[in-house]
Amino acid sequence: MRIVSGIQPTGNLHLGNYLGAIRNWVAMQDQAAASGGQSFYFLADLHAISQPHVPAELAANTREMVAALLACGIDPKRSVLFNQAQVPAHAELQWLLNGTARMGWLNRMTQWKDKAGKNREGQSVALFTYPVLQAADVLLYQATHVPVGEDQKQHLELARDIAQKFNNDFCAEDAPLFTLPDPIIPPQAARIMSLRDGSAKMSKSDPSDMSRINLTDDADTIMQKVRKAKTDPEPLPETVAGLEGRPEAANLVGIYAAMAGTSAGAVLAEFAGKGFGQFKPALGELLVASLAPINARFVELRQDRAALDAVLAEGAERARAAAAPTLTAAYAALGLVR
Ligand code: TYM
Repeated sequence: MRIVSGIQPTGNLHLGNYLGAIRNWVAMQDQAAASGGQSFYFLADLHAISQPHVPAELAANTREMVAALLACGIDPKRSVLFNQAQVPAHAELQWLLNGTARMGWLNRMTQWKDKAGKNREGQSVALFTYPVLQAADVLLYQATHVPVGEDQKQHLELARDIAQKFNNDFCAEDAPLFTLPDPIIPPQAARIMSLRDGSAKMSKSDPSDMSRINLTDDADTIMQKVRKAKTDPEPLPETVAGLEGRPEAANLVGIYAAMAGTSAGAVLAEFAGKGFGQFKPALGELLVASLAPINARFVELRQDRAALDAVLAEGAERARAAAAPTLTAAYAALGLVR
């Protein structure tokens, strides 16, 4: 088991990141450690420069994100925790894979289409080639499992296509270089939606802070955001099928189920026939109780900048060593003399 995943250090960790990915990172770190495997988790700071950013904010957010991941339970003794910028092999392998990735493949990426909108000509080249760097991130470590939310599935499929084409074009049939990684997407919380709009995913880039629960929010803020979350006037239905066409209600029930470690059906069995006046306070309290310990650890950890930098430095050293053999083999496969 080789587990690899990343997160962009832009802004705060929110509930979508936590339930869609980070909680699974922690669970898989423990599974990997128990089975003799390894887990690699990183801050995708190189990805973060694909869109306009303020350098001082990126540096501060990188350290804050390390504190947040540690607070969520990532253990730097059991996982290799680092940032891409300290491991040049990511950028190097991306360049090598740029020879294999096809323009047509990248043109089909929905994230590229969404982020570029009608202004493709004005986007950075990095935003377009972003998925090739993501492929390099996982292929570099021979990842077998990649825990992510639903929105990253297409990028992982692209990583598999790139790996397969590289193996076909440059490796002997019985000695492929790259392992094809499998995305691991949680069944319950694959896609947490905005609290203001059940058709948009919860996101760091949403201008309204009311649209998301940040892991740094205090109890009052969480209760207020849940109270103000968009809903409909109907009571909760008896079955999951009854949530059809009610995206906001489905989202809140899904969040409750994911946080409580149960299914949407079980949540409805408890709350069927009750209105949001009853459901929202219960959801708010569940969130506050679950997130408070994480929040408290985060507030403490973020103060010690030297300790956070030391975690990144040590993780980067281990990541550089783990990445070296695959990078060397990729150069050799392409006929590059070093
Ligand atoms: P990022 O930083 O946008 O998000 C980090 C992780 O959180 C998940 N996620 C969500 N899951 C459920 N509901 C949501 N509303 C939600 N919002 C975010 C994402 O799916 C992701 O797993 N390109 C990646 C970072 C990356 C990466 C990688 C991931 C770079 N290289 C290699 C895996 C492997 C990104 O921008 O994620």
